[in-house]
Amino acid sequence: MKQFLFLLIIILSVSIVQAQKFDNLALTPPMGWNSWNKFGCDVTEKLVRETADAIVLSGMKDAGYQYVVIDDCWHGTRDAQGFIQPSVEHFPSGMKALGDYIHSKGLKFGIYSDVGAKTCAGRPGSRGYEYQDALVYASWGVDYLKYDWCNSEGINPVGAYTTMRDALYAAKRPVLFSICEWGDNKPWEWAKPVGHMWRTTGDITHCWDCEENHGTWSSFGIMRILDKQKGLRIHAKPGSWNDPDMMEVGNGMTLAEDRAHFSLWAMLSAPLIAGNDVRKMSRETREILTNKGIIAINQDSLGIQAFPAISENGLEVWAKPLANGSWAICFLNRSGESKTLNFDWKENFIKDDFAGRQFNAKKDSYKVRDLWLKKDLGTTDVSLKAVIPSHDVIVLRLEMQGK
Ligand code: GLA
Repeated sequence: MKQFLFLLIIILSVSIVQAQKFDNLALTPPMGWNSWNKFGCDVTEKLVRETADAIVLSGMKDAGYQYVVIDDCWHGTRDAQGFIQPSVEHFPSGMKALGDYIHSKGLKFGIYSDVGAKTCAGRPGSRGYEYQDALVYASWGVDYLKYDWCNSEGINPVGAYTTMRDALYAAKRPVLFSICEWGDNKPWEWAKPVGHMWRTTGDITHCWDCEENHGTWSSFGIMRILDKQKGLRIHAKPGSWNDPDMMEVGNGMTLAEDRAHFSLWAMLSAPLIAGNDVRKMSRETREILTNKGIIAINQDSLGIQAFPAISENGLEVWAKPLANGSWAICFLNRSGESKTLNFDWKENFIKDDFAGRQFNAKKDSYKVRDLWLKKDLGTTDVSLKAVIPSHDVIVLRLEMQGK
């Protein structure tokens, strides 16, 4: 009997130790599309299929966008055995068929749930059904789960998210786990072994620098979200990303603001999850979302987030160490007026203690490429002269050349 108990304890502890998040996922920041920012609760299988088509036709898939994620409101009710069903009205063909369609386009299928009994929009959440839901998602071919924090009623966030992580792992289909806890309980301190990305803030909205008050909560513009990332870069690494929320590119800001937003998310090594109507986007929006040079700095293999190296009168210089000794540099004009830049690289020594990297143009010479103009600008041996319009950016890739 004693021997049997001993064996049981060993078997149980081995199976507990083995549960983990799926590894080898999100080694670079995840890229995709999510329905919420543009469509809210108006999600249908028609929208999702057309979006998958548009991601392919627009060149977004070739640029690296992969996950097609249905956010809140896809749900119907649970059946008598507790199995979650999609809304029959909005998803008449069922989720397995939709997942198959998304996969047939070479894309991946994402879905949404919540730690509470109800989602933020009042649909059935996963509380108490975690293992059952994970099995259902696996049977539908789900590759990505965004897991929200509404109606959490004081439960322990580490326990709640770990339970779903373990449920996904037990269901055996690799799922990228996106923790959406709004930064309330400092997920950057505990979420690395639990999920592949974690929201660092409340919800984003499509304005430059506003706070929108919704009564019990607020949503924030691009600059507000950017400022909330302070100090978090040390927590990101391949497989584990800070998530400053899905993008608002193409949802109503100016082109300069959209360009700046996209560039900053790329600099922050943020997941690049488009949040616009990709079926009907303008050429300019498409060009922003598919800028391969900007995407390459986001997808750099080192996975090191940028930091604000210089800040003066509304002009910020963000620096991101890249592989092979390269750097991405983003000049951000936060102010209401355009700024004239005369930037002497040799007078601006940039040191990144976290990454153990230094940018010293007195010692090394770098080739300079403007990633929005798609043009080589010479080297760091000469000063950079440019005008940056209000709320716009210049993003450069600097590659070291032998001296
Ligand atoms: C929360 C999340 C959003 C979105 C909505 C859906 O607000 O932070 O990203 O998922 O819920 O209701």
